[in-house]
Amino acid sequence: MSTVLVTGAAGFIGCNFVRLLLSEASGDYRVIAYDSLTYAGNLANLSDFEGNDRYSFIKGDICDEEKVDEVMAQVDVVVNFAAESHVDRSILSSREFIRTNIDGTRVLAESARRHKTGRFIQVSTDEVYGALGPSGYFTEETPLSPNSPYSASKASADMLLRAYHHTHGFPVIVTRCSNNYGPYQFPEKLIPLFVTNLLEGKKVPVYGDGRQVRDWIHVEDHCRAVLAVMEKGKEGEVYNVGSNNEQYNIDITQLILEHLGKDESYIEHVTDRPGHDRRYAIDSTKMKEQIGWEAQTEFKQGLHDTIEWYLNNKEWWSAIKTGEYLKYYEKQYANR
Ligand code: NAD
Ligand code: DAU
Repeated sequence: MSTVLVTGAAGFIGCNFVRLLLSEASGDYRVIAYDSLTYAGNLANLSDFEGNDRYSFIKGDICDEEKVDEVMAQVDVVVNFAAESHVDRSILSSREFIRTNIDGTRVLAESARRHKTGRFIQVSTDEVYGALGPSGYFTEETPLSPNSPYSASKASADMLLRAYHHTHGFPVIVTRCSNNYGPYQFPEKLIPLFVTNLLEGKKVPVYGDGRQVRDWIHVEDHCRAVLAVMEKGKEGEVYNVGSNNEQYNIDITQLILEHLGKDESYIEHVTDRPGHDRRYAIDSTKMKEQIGWEAQTEFKQGLHDTIEWYLNNKEWWSAIKTGEYLKYYEKQYANR
């Protein structure tokens, strides 16, 4: 049985990945969930696994060299989800993004190298490629051209790991996925923010004209892609992960309004995000042809199920939307 270190396990994608690893459908994996529990980390996301003898949780920072080293001694595979992940926060301050996303990745990689652990899966993002015009797709050969402090920090980590592979033969594989949606997403990101605002009777802040395009993928499809890469990917390679599902933000907003029986008076067009990337679209042919993976979830069904999840889990998100969250919201949205 392999032991998988899942960093950032208490966040949105990490907790869905732990669920996949511990499900009947996956192979026999033991999971060490490692997370420092920042504002985005939530132990409630992992509460289903307490008592499972294939699961343990360690509260720790990926920048803590001693702690990482202690844990790494027991590990066969590393899947690194731990990151500061919200673009808007990186515009307010880039400090934590540089610390966790770059230096934290270095600490994990150095420790994995020392312990000669097996594969190291770096969960990166399509945002490292920058923005597209009205046509074309990001392939694995698209030059990196990150536009936000967040994406620059993720691109830096990708470059560092590329160099570790080249110099040390480090067994790293990088995945670059598009926008995820689904259960347990922190309500600062577009879909959960808009759904929960409307459930609270508040307006939804659409940036600029709302005609920006994202390529949305259900988180469970992303998690299956990461697992498939972990099991079948080639070391030193990059794999793009997407769902071939481009949507304008304003169209998603309309779908959410309709689902919740609200009209357009709930839309508030606010000042655009500085440096806002206009369009992302992923070509995931390599995943299909070399790994045999394809996204399964149809968007309208996935969005419907996600909205229902937030409707049925009000306690989960209302516990988050208090205190520090409200201070952040005020800072982010007050003067737009
Ligand atoms: P998230 O913000 O929901 O979760 C991040 C988790 O990392 C949290 O649990 C947090 O506590 C933990 N963390 C942060 N700093 C840490 C540190 N120094 N040490 C240990 N743990 C720390 O993020 P997410 O949306 O689940 O994204 C996970 C990963 O996937 C990130 O690397 C992100 O760049 C990447 N990604 C996200 C998306 C998306 O649409 N959300 C798409 C592509 C790639
Ligand atoms: O593409 C992958 C990336 O997707 C990940 O690497 C990031 O971690 C993840 O946060 C996400 O980044 P985005 O910036 O695309 O996601 P966000 O949900 O913040 O915004 C989606 C789109 O919606 C974007 O065009 C900005 C817009 N938006 C967002 C918010 C929060 C609004 O119009 N209003 C909002 O209040």
